[in-house]
Amino acid sequence: MEHPLTQYIHPGCPPFDIREYEMTGGYAAVRKALGSMTPKEVQTLVKDSGLKGRGGAGFSTGIKWGVVPMDEHAPHPKYLIANADEMEPGTFKDRLLLEGNPHQLIEGMILAAYAIQAGVSFIFLRWAYKKAAQLLRRSIHEAYVAGFLGKNILGSGFSLEMYLHTGVGRYMCGEETALLNALEGKRATPRAKPPYPQISGLYGKPTIVNNVETLCNIPHIVNNGVEWFKGLSYSEDSGTKLYGVSGKVNNPGCWELPMGVTIRELIEEYAGGMKNGYQLKGVLPGGASTDFLTAEHLDIKMDFTDVQKAGSRLGTGTMVVMDDATCPVGFVHNLQHFFAQESCGWCTPCREGLPWVEKMLLSLEQGTGTAEDMELLEMHTHMLGPGNTFCALAPGAMEPLQSALKYFKDDFEKHISLHKCPYE
Ligand code: NAI
Repeated sequence: MEHPLTQYIHPGCPPFDIREYEMTGGYAAVRKALGSMTPKEVQTLVKDSGLKGRGGAGFSTGIKWGVVPMDEHAPHPKYLIANADEMEPGTFKDRLLLEGNPHQLIEGMILAAYAIQAGVSFIFLRWAYKKAAQLLRRSIHEAYVAGFLGKNILGSGFSLEMYLHTGVGRYMCGEETALLNALEGKRATPRAKPPYPQISGLYGKPTIVNNVETLCNIPHIVNNGVEWFKGLSYSEDSGTKLYGVSGKVNNPGCWELPMGVTIRELIEEYAGGMKNGYQLKGVLPGGASTDFLTAEHLDIKMDFTDVQKAGSRLGTGTMVVMDDATCPVGFVHNLQHFFAQESCGWCTPCREGLPWVEKMLLSLEQGTGTAEDMELLEMHTHMLGPGNTFCALAPGAMEPLQSALKYFKDDFEKHISLHKCPYE
């Protein structure tokens, strides 16, 4: 089994400096692409590879790049941004890449910037990732000194500046258009799409925002080609994926595995199964803003297609396991507390709706809820659903709620009939 993204990552050991990175084949893809490929050829390669965005939405990376204007009249400069504002609850995969091999990300960014002919790039980093910030600063400096960044890279005529920007710890900044506003020094509220950032992004110029894991795949695709990348996977979605498991399992963690391993394999084989005395009750497959799946779904593939068919989303691929000793109402209340707190307040349904949802769940959890609250909660899952808000925050928040109302209805009803939490 190949682990291209994490092969040189050894948790606890410092990551490679640029000399060590180059000794293991690092920056070969930049030499290859800038030396012998046109930007369009890099775009086509990535599109044909089937790489889909690893930040949560799973949109084709090649198609996204293809929207950027490439003719001589294209606005200038164009921007490339690495979205390293990883803040989805339960998600800690990009951190592994940032702390474990920062040059891999920088190399992926140079290739992506070359493909769309961006002249300026930013890494928008989560505020709390202090160690990653330190390592990235050092690595960007090393890349400048070695001539992989700056003017006329490797004599190719292509130039790229790279800056590290740390956020202030708001979930909202991970949404690509809010991130652009934050970078411009404005309040981090989302923008209407379309126009997509690919046409009008940072300072109104064409901009690509890609997730860290997505970008880390690019050097390997350039080095090894389309068929190799497709062959890494167990499913129709290409490549490997960084999967995570947290909850009451024996060995919580994060692993790079072929796209399409099953939920069962992840929990039983890699996470070492449920801790003694606990049974699995539900799973959020891709972070807190995905629908619950249950024990009946353990054999589905963790890829974009199959998880969706089962009624949820792959999201970030980092699953949260809920055990049978945890109250689902309390669990979902905890998530809604997070989402209500992180709402940017820009649109009414999200700003007003999420605190109501949180309040109703608290009331149910404390045994003072009514059957009418259940109906109101159900109604909110539609009112705050897709199409009714500016961005995906509230619809994402509704996913665990709507599926909890479906799969754990009995638990909600017991809170009402017993006037207390049955898990106490
Ligand atoms: P989205 O589906 O609107 O867009 C995904 C990407 O594809 C964007 O870059 C967008 O510009 C591009 N895109 C979409 N439609 C396009 C079109 N027609 N033409 C060209 N480009 C197009 O999803 P969004 O709102 O960007 O992301 C939501 C996801 O983010 C959620 O599914 C959630 O799982 C995930 N998420 C991840 C977090 C993390 O920490 N990694 C935090 C919060 C949410």
